[in-house]
Amino acid sequence: MAKLFPPHGSGGASPSRRHAAQHSRQHAAINSGKKTTAFQCLGISLIASNRFVLLSKIDNSKTVFSNSMTTDEQIQNAAELLKRGELVAFPTETVYGLGANALDPIAVAKIFELKGRPKFDPLIVHIADPNQLSDLVETVPPLAAELTEKFWPGPLSIVLKKKPCVPDIVTAGLQTVAIRCPQHPVAAKIIRAADLPISAPSANKFGMVSPTTAAHVADQFGDSLHVVDGGPCKIGVESAVVSFVDSDDGSPRLLRHGGVTQEQIETVTGPIQSKIHEESQPTSPGQLSRHYSPRTRLVIAEGVAAESLCEGADRVGLICLAPANAADSFVACEVLSQQGCLREAAANLFSVMRRLDEMDLDLIVAEAVPEQDLGRAIMDRLRRAAAK
Ligand code: TXA
Ligand code: MG
Repeated sequence: MAKLFPPHGSGGASPSRRHAAQHSRQHAAINSGKKTTAFQCLGISLIASNRFVLLSKIDNSKTVFSNSMTTDEQIQNAAELLKRGELVAFPTETVYGLGANALDPIAVAKIFELKGRPKFDPLIVHIADPNQLSDLVETVPPLAAELTEKFWPGPLSIVLKKKPCVPDIVTAGLQTVAIRCPQHPVAAKIIRAADLPISAPSANKFGMVSPTTAAHVADQFGDSLHVVDGGPCKIGVESAVVSFVDSDDGSPRLLRHGGVTQEQIETVTGPIQSKIHEESQPTSPGQLSRHYSPRTRLVIAEGVAAESLCEGADRVGLICLAPANAADSFVACEVLSQQGCLREAAANLFSVMRRLDEMDLDLIVAEAVPEQDLGRAIMDRLRRAAAK
């Protein structure tokens, strides 16, 4: 797990020291298993474990906790809300999604409204079974079928020509649609119970860091949103997006690095061209140069020592892949993976960005990670967080 180092030296309760103390108090509360009133301990309970499931009752706006894994009743409640055209935030293996009935334009409009998302950004449609793909798209090229066979359910979205039943608001007027079949059992059960395709962007305000716990979602949207807690997301970065409509000859293009890596995709497609860094008229908001952003300025140490980027800033936080010698020079150091494992690092990335962002720092320095496997998605998210 990522680790927060208190600042070195003794005496004086600096803000960062206070933050670290607060942090450990939270953990103490979590470990004691104490449970106080729902809202008093909202953050703590949700961060604490997968055991707590948060879901608003359908006919009552009060949020309730259940001290068990997600129950059939809670799945049914979430599905019922979706069928009624309401929004539900739910876990997927990548990040938490903000779901609505993809076939109901008014329900989908609520997503754009709540997220503050520009309407030119199309949404991914989530299905519970791979064979529902043909209900939503005109044709499935053989290579796309091979990809879905190998990686679904899982963190891969594919873009194909849409059928007329997919409303324009979902696709931002494009004649194409991105489809994904998530692996997370709670996501799959909710979609299956609703018996509907579900549009779901990441459950964060537009441009901000994506949520990987139910507490992250609750922090952004408060009581206004129904959130199903399925614990922390295992992958931690969004799905890879592969398009079959962005080339003249129908060959695939990688639009976003994500949970299924380029190397894995290429085992099926052979070498794949990417269309990731276009800045004007992106087909994917993940392609906007600034995205996934903390409020604090972030710079990437690539080919230079992290300390060399601290000049002129008093309170600097460090993000590093593995435990770093440079940690002493920083007010806080977040280690993405004790073993330097890229998969674990991806799972921790957004939580780490959020924690540092809450510390009132002048600057966050992120050490570059190797650009291979999930390192590509990590560097992509860091570059967009660093873009002006
Ligand atoms: O892992 C994920 O994909 C998560 C979870 C919740 O499933 N969802 C997610 O959605 O990241 P969102 O809206 O934050 O990102 C969707 C990406 C965007 O980059 C969007 O532009 C792209 O998919 N996309 C959607 N429809 C598209 C289309 N028709 N053509 C090209 N890109 C599309
Ligand atoms: Mg997003």
